[in-house]
Amino acid sequence: MKASFEHDVLIIGSGAAGLAVALNLPPTLKIAVLSKAQLASGSTRYAQGGIAAVLDATDSIESHIQDTLVAGAGLCHDDAVRFTCENGRESIEWLIRQGVQFTENDGSAVQQDAHHYHLTQEGGHSHRRIIHAADATGLEVSRTLCQQAAQAPNIEIFENRVAVDLITHKKLYLPGNRCVGAYVLNRETSHVELFRARFTVIATGGASKAYLYTTNPDGASGDGIAMAWRAGCRVANMEFNQFHPTCLYHPLAKSFLITEAVRGEGGHLLLPNGKRFMHKFDPREELAPRDIVARAIDHEMKRLGADCLYLDISHKPAEFVKSHFPTIYEQCLEYGIDITRQPIPVVPAAHYTCGGVITDHRSRSDVGQLYVAGEAAFTGLHGANRMASNSLLECLVYGRAAAQDISRQMRDVPPPPQIEEWDESQVTDSDEDVVISHNWDELRRFMWDYVGIVRTNKRLQRAKHRVDVLHQEIMDFYSNYKVTNDLLELRNLVTVADLIICSAIQRKESRGLHYTLDYPDQCAESTDTQLIPTNYSAQEW
Ligand code: FAD
Ligand code: SIN
Repeated sequence: MKASFEHDVLIIGSGAAGLAVALNLPPTLKIAVLSKAQLASGSTRYAQGGIAAVLDATDSIESHIQDTLVAGAGLCHDDAVRFTCENGRESIEWLIRQGVQFTENDGSAVQQDAHHYHLTQEGGHSHRRIIHAADATGLEVSRTLCQQAAQAPNIEIFENRVAVDLITHKKLYLPGNRCVGAYVLNRETSHVELFRARFTVIATGGASKAYLYTTNPDGASGDGIAMAWRAGCRVANMEFNQFHPTCLYHPLAKSFLITEAVRGEGGHLLLPNGKRFMHKFDPREELAPRDIVARAIDHEMKRLGADCLYLDISHKPAEFVKSHFPTIYEQCLEYGIDITRQPIPVVPAAHYTCGGVITDHRSRSDVGQLYVAGEAAFTGLHGANRMASNSLLECLVYGRAAAQDISRQMRDVPPPPQIEEWDESQVTDSDEDVVISHNWDELRRFMWDYVGIVRTNKRLQRAKHRVDVLHQEIMDFYSNYKVTNDLLELRNLVTVADLIICSAIQRKESRGLHYTLDYPDQCAESTDTQLIPTNYSAQEW
């Protein structure tokens, strides 16, 4: 049985961004929150280090702004940085009011902050300004916000629902163009349902699954970026993929991050011979911004032919290590690594999508009544390299901004029109799912090999050639067979991979996270890489 729903606001995604929008909207509005798996799925629950905000009396907003600008390597938008940093404290206080329990100061911390919470330090930050819940901040934030959303009578939660495409007006770019909802695959019934809404919010997270090795959970396939692109939204700076320097290297560990806070609390990066090496790359050593640290590790691994390098915190008292990093301690112990006594094997892995759908301070996109928040959005905050722990902050600040703007607009926007249901009369069940799994593997491998930490013109051209072939094959498959979650993710991944490659080809310099051997220097002047969609395939009404 097909189903059809109508809401005031349709929020696609239930991470920090999606739930920040939902919980900041007036309780009088009828809201739908979609998640493609369980409510708590997405990257948010895996966040370890914490959330950056100016909370200490000796810290300042100007300092947070300055650190963000430096990490962003000249491409941050000053206004977005200021807007985010100025709204930091308020966002944290909102989380505390929702019930988030951050780690309190036990007196052993270097500085005492205004709220008596423990603040840690991470790469690029010149102050201790990362508020956290031990080493599982995301879990605590996700648990609390999911609980609040589940209790809110005006919020309807739809799990196992995968948005397929946005539904937009025919006249893209013309006045009156607007989004009126989305077609959504119900993974339990395998039917595509119709969700109509006055306002739609994309909060679908990033696209790091485009790479073979990633810290991200399954599902980070850039769905929202691809959907918005198909609906006529511009995207920017997709070449800036952040690689986290320290992902656990172990045959049984899938995507387990070792938080940057380990380095913030004094951890040392070591070569296989036990020697430190970061001083050769940056005077800030282990606390240099993560593009520098990831490239340094990549360089040393390639130079030595090493499978991994090491992160060592065992010189700190065992109790200190266990109390600050309980999750990492337990998880590593399961793999036979006692981090209080031995170094942790680590490798870099794709971690964060700095680019995304272009939005303004109200989280509005190019399409009317379509908002984008969180990792799927490009606000201008991160520039060429996101500073640690600025991402959750961005989700909260811009999620709230979206909610405020939607509340202001609500009275002026008519209910969505009648729309035709999804037509699957021309497609059949696939009898060759191997095409999906094969193409999925191929895509992620060539993205890793050719569009990774170090790029060249030749590698990017090779990647472009392959992505074009795959794109054609996947679109043929999509046109002939019924949609499944795997097919939808692959369709989105190939689009996002293409956007990344095209953006990387356009940038003729090395800056922040984009490093190419053919243009090793930074240009004196630089701008964002904006891509404008020309072939629309969004569903129209
Ligand atoms: P997510 O939390 O990823 O949520 C995406 C949501 O969208 C999910 O509910 C998913 O089910 C849903 N979704 C996706 N596609 C669809 C679709 N087609 N249809 C329906 N639903 C869909 N940042 C920090 O600031 N501090 C940290 O300490 C930190 N640590 C991190 C550690 C790890 C291991 C990782 C992976 C990231 C970390 N980050 C950290 C980054 C940060 O966690 C993410 O950028 C942030 O959580 C993204 O939130 P989001 O709400 O945009 O998306
Ligand atoms: C980490 O804890 O190292 C991740 C922080 C982040 O991605 O912001």
